[in-house]
Formats: sequence, structure tokens, C-alpha cells
Amino acid sequence: MKGVVLAGGTGSRLHPLTQITNKHLLPIYDRPMISHGIEALVKAGVSEIMLITGGTHAGEFLRLLGDGAEFGIARLFYAYQAKPGGIAEALRLAERFAAGDRTVVLLADNIFGRSLRPCVDAFAAQAAGARVVLSHETDREHLRHLGVAKLNGSRRIERIVEKPSDPPSDFAVTGAYFYDQTVWEVLPNLKPSGRGELEITDVNNWYVERDLMEYDVLDGFWGDAGESIEAYYAVNDFVRNHGANRDR
Ligand code: DAU
Repeated sequence: MKGVVLAGGTGSRLHPLTQITNKHLLPIYDRPMISHGIEALVKAGVSEIMLITGGTHAGEFLRLLGDGAEFGIARLFYAYQAKPGGIAEALRLAERFAAGDRTVVLLADNIFGRSLRPCVDAFAAQAAGARVVLSHETDREHLRHLGVAKLNGSRRIERIVEKPSDPPSDFAVTGAYFYDQTVWEVLPNLKPSGRGELEITDVNNWYVERDLMEYDVLDGFWGDAGESIEAYYAVNDFVRNHGANRDR
């Protein structure tokens, strides 16, 4: 399975910190944020990785990660997203790297308390389609800033709603996504959303509509450190006290 780590975007919700650097280079406790995402994949057994970033600080990622060997990466590739046109637009840059294999996509501002290995293993055992990782979240205001899964009576995902004004459940869709090879046919047909981006939620709903979407529900901590300065510090506090990507 190939890994794609997304570290582009504008980081506008963390201005002014992100006016002078890329969000994913900001510290989460004792390391740059990106290191935790790389560790999440490597600890889950994914060692061929493409890092996608953009903006004016792309060179710093090379300075930190180099050829990836120090981080346990077997082969590390880089791609540059010229404009922040959305998560799904960034993912298109990985086609030549990942086509022909399955792919796990990780948003580099997402920090997980526990290892993603069970999800990687579950996707490896899945016949086809896609997989998302849900996190139980009872704060409805928080859910309004995320993708939220609508589940039906038989616990299948019926729809994923991006930034819902009326969240359809208590299950947020985290930034860890798993796709089979069909994703490379889905991506070119996407249309920009109201905010002018190619949305990963539209990709996920393509699989949902064909009953090809499975999911895991996380136990343990999940945080989106890019969501607000409060969220950034909540993630920092958690990692400082408990660590990230821990095996059980
Ligand atoms: O954190 C989980 C949430 O991430 C999900 O619940 C949502 O469904 C999903 O759309 C996404 O929402 P955000 O509003 O948090 O996405 P954001 O624009 O902050 O981008 C998330 C990451 O993707 C960030 O680490 C940078 C990267 N990115 C983003 C854009 C827009 C790119 O690499 N390129 C881009 O063009």
C-alpha cells in the first residue's frame, strides 16, 4: 500500500503563525507536525510515501525529511501543489506514484493518539472500494467544521456531509482515507465545490453511492491541529502528556 501525506493548503486558520511558515512545520510538542503524520504511516507498515506540499516553505520539508531513511521510509517522493485547490486536487498529483496499488491518504494536520495499523490491516483485507476512519464527537459546534457521516439503520454510511449546519450524526470523518485504484478515475471527474475546491468528501461519496465504502471507528484521541489555535494547543497538550501513534 502506498502512502500520500498532504501538507499543502493555506493554514489561514492559524494566521499569523502560518504567514511565516507552513502549518505542518509548526511544533506539536517536541517535533514538527509533519513528523507525526509520517510516523503514523511508517508505524502502520506503509513505507513508500509521497509528501505533497505547496507555498513558499516547501524546501523545509526536504531539509527535515531528506530521503526519509531516518524516519523509516523506504522510498520518499515529493510533489508540489501550485495552488491550494483542495485535498482532492492535491491527491491527483500522486497518480503516477500510486496508480496500480492501493493508497492511504493522510492529512498532515491530523494527529492520532493510537496507531493506524488496525485500519491499514482492515483495508488490506477489504475486497475493493474505500475506507474512512470515524471519530465519535459529541460537540455539535465542532462537527459543523468537519465532514460528518450519516449512518443508516444497518450501520452503513449513507452519506458524508461536509461542514453540515445540522450534523447528521456524532461521527466525524477524520483525515485518514483509504482507496483502491478506482480513485484515479474518480478524481478527474470532480467539480469544484462552493468554496472553489475539489473536495475529498465528493470522492468519498462516490464510493458511498456504490456501496463500496467501509469504515472504522477510532478508539483513542484524534485531533485536527489546523482547525483553530485552540485545537492546535489541545493537540499539543495531548501529545505532550500521552504521545501519538501509540500501539495499544
Ligand atoms: O480534519 C478532518 C477534516 O479535514 C475532515 O473532517 C473534512 O471532511 C475534510 O474536508 C478536511 O476538512 P478541513 O477544512 O480541515 O480541510 P483543510 O482545508 O484544513 O485541509 C486539510 C489538510 O489538507 C491540511 O493539512 C492541508 C491539506 N491540503 C488542503 C488543501 C485545501 C492540501 O494539501 N492542499 C489543499 O489544497
